[in-house]
Amino acid sequence: MNVVLLYGGKSGEHEISLLSASAILRNIDRPRHRVTLIGINKGGLWFLQDPSEAERVRNDPEAVLRISEDEGVAVVPGRGLALASSGTKIQADIVFPALHGTFGEDGTVQGLLDCAGLPYVGSGVGASAVSMDKERTKQVWQNAGLPVVPWRCLRSPGPDRDALDGCEGAFGYPLFVKPSAGGSSVGAAKAGDRAALEAAVAEAFLWDEKVLVEPAIPAREIECSVTGNPFCPPGSPPEHTVRAYCLGEINPAHEFYDSDAKYIDPEGASTVTPARLTPEQACFIEDTAKRAYAALDCAGLARVDFFINKKTGAVFLNEINTMPGFTAISMFPKMCAAWGMDFPSVIELLLEEGLARFKHVNRKKTDYRF
Ligand SMILES: Nc1ncnc2c1ncn2[C@@H]1O[C@H](COP(=O)(O)OP(=O)(O)O)[C@@H](O)[C@H]1O
Ligand SMILES: [Mg+2]
Repeated sequence: MNVVLLYGGKSGEHEISLLSASAILRNIDRPRHRVTLIGINKGGLWFLQDPSEAERVRNDPEAVLRISEDEGVAVVPGRGLALASSGTKIQADIVFPALHGTFGEDGTVQGLLDCAGLPYVGSGVGASAVSMDKERTKQVWQNAGLPVVPWRCLRSPGPDRDALDGCEGAFGYPLFVKPSAGGSSVGAAKAGDRAALEAAVAEAFLWDEKVLVEPAIPAREIECSVTGNPFCPPGSPPEHTVRAYCLGEINPAHEFYDSDAKYIDPEGASTVTPARLTPEQACFIEDTAKRAYAALDCAGLARVDFFINKKTGAVFLNEINTMPGFTAISMFPKMCAAWGMDFPSVIELLLEEGLARFKHVNRKKTDYRF
């Protein structure tokens, strides 16, 4: 198959994407698939990469993909050219958008690929967009009867004094503040008093028009990889149904799992896979992860993140990532491996699911003769 690997992107998580895509490239089955690299720079421009770039990264386990800006790429609506460079069609049976955050994980690139008539790995426009918005995600989950951390949503240009009084009154301190459509813990903070709450809310508003305020949970952080196309009809192969993998636990060394702990401080967090849980707890979390994924109409893959309140034992869904990290130390592939599926097999499954979803979605009628 001709696989186009899209990486980089106009996002605060550009560098994480370079690492994820490098790991994906090394684990795509060769010679079964031919990979074409398209790098997206931080300005959002798309560039075709020379095949030597793929060779460089495959031959050096430490190498990280770069983006050379020589050959621009055009995305052409319809199923003719679809992707082209210098007027020539780029062969693409499927696209793997290894992009995190804005313009990649939020439905925008998915919409562009839909217009171009290209199959791709992962969730479609709607599920990607809703999953990127933590307030909308919570509403969907609450509606499905799933446990979420209670929240108040403040809207720009707010907040007014009443809104902050309301958060204090509803939850008391400590509170947790984060942008609704954030990622990588950017703009997130814990607040122990009114002054800290006001500062945290002002900071979070720099990142999004909506800010969530929640009770700060003294939490164990548990994650679950999920794959599958929940809309596949009965009788479809088992690999095309939703599956939850081995659970993992993150133990941040910082006050919470902040950006430093995630990406900068090498001692910032330790992970345990499988997470140490009772069989009942693990079963409940895996089942909830699958329901949470299906409630959002996710497809392909996602990592569903949970909190267990250390004091009460209560389990809450925290958030979902429709294109989780795929770096060498990322939880998604680790949790699949602990379950028994190695990295190359995960990629093979994701490619198959992407094609299956494309076929399924494109059975719909789009033409009506009046
Ligand atoms: N209500 C909360 N109580 C305590 N810690 C929280 C809460 N919400 C988020 N956090 C902490 O902040 C981190 C980042 O928040 P999260 O909702 O996962 O957003 P992101 O998309 O930035 O990862 C979490 O991993 C956790 O450590
Ligand atoms: Mg998170």
